[in-house]
Amino acid sequence: ETKTILVDEHVNNDESYAQAVDYIRGGEVVAFPTETVYGLGADAMNATAVDKIFAAKGRPTDNPLIVHVDSKETALEYVEDVPEKALQCMDAFWPGALTLILQAKPDTFASNVTAGLPTVGIRVPNHPVALNLLKRLKRPVAAPSANTSGKPSPTMAGHVYFDMDTKIPLILDGGPTQVGIESTVLDMTSAPPVILRPGQVTKEQLEEVIGTVRLSSETKGNTPKSPGMKYAHYAPAAPLYLIEHNSKLIEKAIDHIHGKKKKIAVLSREDFETADYCFPLAVDKLYDSLRKCDQTDADLILACVLPENEDAALMNRLEKAADHKWFS
Ligand code: TXA
Ligand code: MG
Repeated sequence: ETKTILVDEHVNNDESYAQAVDYIRGGEVVAFPTETVYGLGADAMNATAVDKIFAAKGRPTDNPLIVHVDSKETALEYVEDVPEKALQCMDAFWPGALTLILQAKPDTFASNVTAGLPTVGIRVPNHPVALNLLKRLKRPVAAPSANTSGKPSPTMAGHVYFDMDTKIPLILDGGPTQVGIESTVLDMTSAPPVILRPGQVTKEQLEEVIGTVRLSSETKGNTPKSPGMKYAHYAPAAPLYLIEHNSKLIEKAIDHIHGKKKKIAVLSREDFETADYCFPLAVDKLYDSLRKCDQTDADLILACVLPENEDAALMNRLEKAADHKWFS
């Protein structure tokens, strides 16, 4: 029932984009690729359309959505009291994997987009398909990741189809996404600005442009304060545990689990032949690997990490997927 259309530079896509534009203008939801993950998009000014996003995802309505626009100039039509540092971030990182939390102009977005907050998360995605769609549409698009709430975000059209078949009319397939995890979310309404969600744009890169930036204590596993942080995220079906990437330790864990007649999937940079299943661990492969675990009969998943050396955003997603459990 859900149609997937391939949109790449080798085919004439006018017709495909026209269909997507018609659906969104008509109050429907369309999935499209961004450079981070696939988004589930609707007209950000149409509350009924935005409701359909929450329904398709099964998303709690107190968790606000990110608004996507085609340029800094368009973004500035929808926000106010924009600090100088936010403008600097826009110039340095847009289009790109950085969402800025700013004061929304009152009565601009449908209130369910922002979950009733006075602020909005807004970004310009760096993907030709997303930008083309936004330019043709000439409207802001509210788009969370296109997964069922709680599940790993989709990095391929097939992931979206798996979660959204029969729930939305159209998926634009732009191939696998490059970055593979969601954008960095930076709250510009506090001083110094606070990273609410780490992503490809790092604390260090931000600090080079705007000076001191804080990392939200919520991203380090403390009690959540803001919307979205309190819910389970990226969770595969089987319980996931973190384990130090140490071959002896891992082989011992595999033996122990096999002793209990349980099957085990390992996420690692190295192949473990004694494991029942082994999938790659890397930022751009994480969600696909988690979804592949769901296709197996593994009773338990081990993610092999060296916490001090891991990419901060990858570690953040793994800790959430594991609900901070370490194998012992
Ligand atoms: O890369 C991405 O950001 C992807 C692609 C599709 O753009 N989108 C995405 O959206 O990850 P979503 O809805 O899955 O995550 C949005 C995050 C949530 O953690 C939400 O709580 C936070 O941004 N957020 C949105 N608006 C906010 C606001 N006004 N204040 C604080 N946090 C906000
Ligand atoms: Mg999401």
